[in-house]
Amino acid sequence: MNPFSKKILPPKALICDRQQELKDVIRYAENQQNMVLFSPRRYGKTSLVLRAQHELRAQNFLTIYADLFSVDSLDDLAAILAKAVYKAIHAQESLLDKGKRWISALKSFRPVIQPTETGLELSVTNSSHFTGQALFEQVMEDIGNLIIKKQTPVHIALDEFQEISRIKAKTEEIMRSYIQTHQASYCFIGSRRSMLLQMFNQSKRPFFQSAFNYPLPALPQQDMITYLQTVMHEHGRDCSVACATKIADISQGYAYYLQLLGYFCFERSSSEITDEIIAQAFDLVLESEAFYYQANIESLSTTSLKLIKALARQPTKQLLSAPYLSKLAVSASSVAYTRKQLEKRDLIEEKNGYLQLVDPFMAIYLQRH
Ligand SMILES: Nc1ncnc2c1ncn2[C@@H]1O[C@H](COP(=O)(O)OP(=O)(O)OP(=O)(O)O)[C@@H](O)[C@H]1O
Ligand SMILES: [Mg+2]
Repeated sequence: MNPFSKKILPPKALICDRQQELKDVIRYAENQQNMVLFSPRRYGKTSLVLRAQHELRAQNFLTIYADLFSVDSLDDLAAILAKAVYKAIHAQESLLDKGKRWISALKSFRPVIQPTETGLELSVTNSSHFTGQALFEQVMEDIGNLIIKKQTPVHIALDEFQEISRIKAKTEEIMRSYIQTHQASYCFIGSRRSMLLQMFNQSKRPFFQSAFNYPLPALPQQDMITYLQTVMHEHGRDCSVACATKIADISQGYAYYLQLLGYFCFERSSSEITDEIIAQAFDLVLESEAFYYQANIESLSTTSLKLIKALARQPTKQLLSAPYLSKLAVSASSVAYTRKQLEKRDLIEEKNGYLQLVDPFMAIYLQRH
């Protein structure tokens, strides 16, 4: 079987580097501190936190993980959190076996377990008379009570946390007021870095200075080379240092692209990775990701599209210089506004003084289209 994967790697699988980061996440948890874990998309944030939670469970932590990527209302947020709580309890001791004790773990929602073809499916149903803010507050209060009742340490990871700012309500204020009373460690994760960092570092925002900022760096090149060579070798492929270096260079520290390039190189080879195979794998990555880039692009305004295409072709130190503006054929004020919009979505950033696309593969896709 191909050892490279698009999915989160299982807890026992070999991963590239991240030993220090794993220790750091665990230490914050043990110290009951909150952290904001951020990086560009696809660096490996979710994998890192799930692995840390796996280790924390071995230390008797109750670990709760909720993905807020698609959250759109307070009711929705409340249900996602409640489901995450029941899932965590279920993972520790089956809700079916200990049904009575845990069925009322939360006042706001009760769990519903239904058999499916692949096993049991857990969902939640509102068991209170509340909706909206009152329901959300009840869930936050319930979580507080659970933490007290559990008498074991609790770690709560909230992935794509910045998405709560889409909800048009005092979500941040309410959440902060409960979280600050919870004797637990929260890990706030996100890839829309400017949005997330503003939440925690602007003095007027409720979450101001309530968590340690923790940037997840790109994977170090040497670790990527060792990882590639080890995994390839273990699965019957010969990958020279030169080839592993080439794949690592193309991946640019992105865990996701490392996996995808590894995946296609493995698929295309029977014994040895060659330059030709790497070139084919690179094209296959772009092909398989085209829909993702296209979806990002389609949601952009005409000016945003113009700017992002220009930056893909030519990163710049002087966006507002006359030659660049005339090439874009857009006014300076409009370019300045559009830049902010694209930065907010974490599609572009200033790196080494140059304004450029965050995702190097998306840049190449745009250069070609
Ligand atoms: N340290 C690592 N070594 C090898 N592969 C990794 C590592 N970390 C993550 N990956 C792989 O990279 C891919 C992306 O990981 P993950 O989903 O955790 O990233 P993410 O930063 O949460 O992405 P997103 O921003 O899209 O949510 C997955 O295929 C995962 O298995
Ligand atoms: Mg993620």
